Amino acid sequence: MTEPATRRVDMEKIVSLCRRRGFIFPSSEIYGGLSSCWDYGPLGVELKRNIKDAWWRAAVQERDDMVGLDTSILMHPQVWAASGHLEGFSDPLVECKSCHLRWRADELQGDSCPSCGGELTESRLFNLMFKTFMGPIEEEASVVYLRPETAQGIFVNFQNVLNTTRKRLPFGIAQIGKSFRNEITTGNFIFRSREFEQLEIEFFVRPGTDKEWFDYWLEERLNWYVGLGISRENLRLRQHAKDELAHYARECYDIDYLFPMGWAELEGIANRGDFDLAQHISFSGKNLDYYDEETKEHIVPYIIEPSAGVDRTALALLCDAYDEEPDKDEIRVLLRFHPSIAPIKVAVLPLSRKENLAALAKQVYADLRPCWMVSYDDAQSIGRRYRRQDEIGTPLCVTVDFQSLEDEQVTIRERDSMKQIRIPIKELKGSLTAKLGGERFDTQPLWTTGG
Ligand code: GAP
Repeated sequence: MTEPATRRVDMEKIVSLCRRRGFIFPSSEIYGGLSSCWDYGPLGVELKRNIKDAWWRAAVQERDDMVGLDTSILMHPQVWAASGHLEGFSDPLVECKSCHLRWRADELQGDSCPSCGGELTESRLFNLMFKTFMGPIEEEASVVYLRPETAQGIFVNFQNVLNTTRKRLPFGIAQIGKSFRNEITTGNFIFRSREFEQLEIEFFVRPGTDKEWFDYWLEERLNWYVGLGISRENLRLRQHAKDELAHYARECYDIDYLFPMGWAELEGIANRGDFDLAQHISFSGKNLDYYDEETKEHIVPYIIEPSAGVDRTALALLCDAYDEEPDKDEIRVLLRFHPSIAPIKVAVLPLSRKENLAALAKQVYADLRPCWMVSYDDAQSIGRRYRRQDEIGTPLCVTVDFQSLEDEQVTIRERDSMKQIRIPIKELKGSLTAKLGGERFDTQPLWTTGG
């Protein structure tokens, strides 16, 4: 996070829009909030679902070399001994002797407290795993941990998946799920929180083919973000230096996004070699190897891991889509979401609340709801309603007016260009489908398809 952002949106604007329009609220807000924990509101939950659906489609549904999994958050404590998390999943922590605030030693500039200038303690290692107790007795023997990554649930199920699916190398296992880290320094809104959701692929390959698969996944994952509508110039690949590599990694790249606070990690892609399976073989005493029918050998596969975060993807999408443009004496705020990501795809807006018009508009609304997330808004002027939809990123509005009662036609209005066309109600579903897929209103493509 060293280079300054060359662009554009302040984080405060994103936080404020998310709060105001119901994307994201502070957790337990009526009690003053809980540090670095967030609740996703009605629009945020749709945004997250769209991210997860897009990821699952690309990672699992559209591939024949991948299967899904959903493992438990609480796992046997030995898992974390084998994975290296008990020993090595720590950050260096210092505490201010005056105000007692705690800081990550490796992120401090200078050797005094950034808050009060006080003297700091020696640094000590602080394990980031949340500890809790299983069963009614709070003693060392019943300690379990909230998982800090979903990956271990995949590794310990490697044989189960192999035996039940008869997949052959190379193949992958994908999982979406919550992870927990007792981060010392949090902040930048949902960028670094203590409870977050991961999108992880563990791709098992023959040793010797790992470099080729590593390169494949770098490109595949970068393209996925571009397909969701994120500008390529706001994404970059950054290779980890040798001294930066996690204990399990032979090679690692981050896909960074240019967030308001600067370049920062969106996803990590690591070549984990045979570290994880070898560790679990050694700690569990179980046979987790793979019989290669081609070479008639037992091997321990290598693993390529693309590991992303739902929350960071949501933040990148919000920052990338945010735009402001002059609108007479005001400013039009809009989220230029790709339709696949937009929480609401279509809004139905009756020009007036008059009974006969409302009845037709509600009929249109009911017809569209089985196809997409659609909203209905009849409050205030039509101009204000368009602005409200622009601000939450709704790609298309359908306006039902008095003429509609006569000619059975409605107007479709496009968010980005504000262009409008009029079409027969009986062609509405087909037309919306085409336009959400990128069909032009006239000469300009609405958006590129792919996400
Ligand atoms: N299994 C490998 C692993 O967990 P990581 O780089 O520590 O690797 C992967 O995490 C991704 O999880 C990150 O790129 C990020 O998107 C997300 N992530 C990690 N810690 C996070 C946090 N405290 N808050 C939000 N997202 C986080």
